[in-house]
Amino acid sequence: MNDIVAPTIRIEVACTRGFDKAEQSCLVYQHVHDILEERETIPMGTTFTIPVPFVLQVEVCTNINQYMVRSALQFNIYMLHETPSVAETINHGTEEVEISNHTLLPSRELHGLWESLIYEEGIKDSMLAFAESSMLFARKGVDTNLITCNRLALFHGPPGTGKTSLCKAIAQKLAVRLNGEYRHAHLVEINSHSLFSRWFSESGKLVQKVFSEIIALLEDKHSLVCVLVDEVESIAYARERISSNEPSDSIRVVNAVLTQLDRLRQFPNVFILATSNLTDSIDVAFLDRADFVQYIGHPTERAIYEIYRSALHNLQAIGIVEKEGKINRRLSASAFDELPSYEDATEPGRASCTTLDILLQIVKLSAGQSGRTLRKIPFLAHALYVKKETDSMLNFLAAMRQAIRKVQNDKHLLKKDNLSDAAIVTSNGSL
Ligand SMILES: Nc1ncnc2c1ncn2[C@@H]1O[C@H](COP(=O)(O)OP(=O)(O)OP(=O)(O)O)[C@@H](O)[C@H]1O
Ligand SMILES: [Mg+2]
Repeated sequence: MNDIVAPTIRIEVACTRGFDKAEQSCLVYQHVHDILEERETIPMGTTFTIPVPFVLQVEVCTNINQYMVRSALQFNIYMLHETPSVAETINHGTEEVEISNHTLLPSRELHGLWESLIYEEGIKDSMLAFAESSMLFARKGVDTNLITCNRLALFHGPPGTGKTSLCKAIAQKLAVRLNGEYRHAHLVEINSHSLFSRWFSESGKLVQKVFSEIIALLEDKHSLVCVLVDEVESIAYARERISSNEPSDSIRVVNAVLTQLDRLRQFPNVFILATSNLTDSIDVAFLDRADFVQYIGHPTERAIYEIYRSALHNLQAIGIVEKEGKINRRLSASAFDELPSYEDATEPGRASCTTLDILLQIVKLSAGQSGRTLRKIPFLAHALYVKKETDSMLNFLAAMRQAIRKVQNDKHLLKKDNLSDAAIVTSNGSL
């Protein structure tokens, strides 16, 4: 008897409104089977489209190798919500302040975000695995006296490294993965800054308001609620003020938030994500509650290459950068790709190719820049140096090289300015 169990191949299918599950699912299975049969190996995370109305994207969520039995497919067909996120605001005098933001998941707005974020291999998967295990432990009712699992993840690191985007993408992925467990999924983003920065006397009321809305959502046990506490360092900032002015108000607010977070954790259907870019001053009480703390740094050369590669493919697809035919037939990584993967591009024995040589040069030049800056480079290149509707890949790359040099130069000048400002302050202070 053959006792080797074929591993399950997970397939996620994103659909928009109009997709008829009962009518069209068979067609989806058929197309996906046909595509998978064509290739021997398919890396996890590969996405493709199929000609079925209202199907936006198919994603392979398991590494497939040639020995796998293709019949062991597990489909997760999910519908994307089109409703845009709704901001919760309060009026303070003439000012309107946004305190939270509510999105129904999985959301069309967040579709593709997960794939667009590029980190070292394995990081995104381990984060998602952490989130999935946390939710499983809570669903199964693990004894919290024996096993601590707070369902709280904290991402910290320099500005513009994708922390907020990553939290939203994890929430979206979690909603997709758990769509068989919950009927609804929500993302509530709390703008910590607006809760803490001003009007301490009113902050208590704001905290109460935001959290009671989250608890109302959590009371429906068929709802998954992901809470994003963005820029959590504001809490630490509030604590600092305890020692200076307004002590009683700020203590009250900080404690209110921590108590409310503890209240949320009583619900098995909540997952809390937090971000901070001030690594040193994360509130200790908050840090203590996090089960998963992940540093998110600047992209590595491989990640920079992949960020630029995805941008250039998009520009080629829409015609702003001309297609060159195959860059180098021997290098073409897959039928979908024009520029090869980083591994193929940096292989020591690869045939010479000017386009790739320049691209790799730009990658080296871009080291140390945040993902946010890198994502702007193609636009700056076009706006400042290309200035026409379509150009060749080589000219576009030359423009990108100029753009990255300009960004570096501007940052250098800004730093110098800040340093001389600081020097003026110091010298005035010492007078
Ligand atoms: N590693 C990355 N891969 C792809 N895109 C990235 C990466 N890092 C940042 N980006 C892009 O940079 C932009 C800014 O990201 P985001 O606002 O999530 O960063 P952040 O770390 O939260 O910044 P801040 O600390 O200033 O709040 C997004 O458009 C995101 O897609
Ligand atoms: Mg952020």
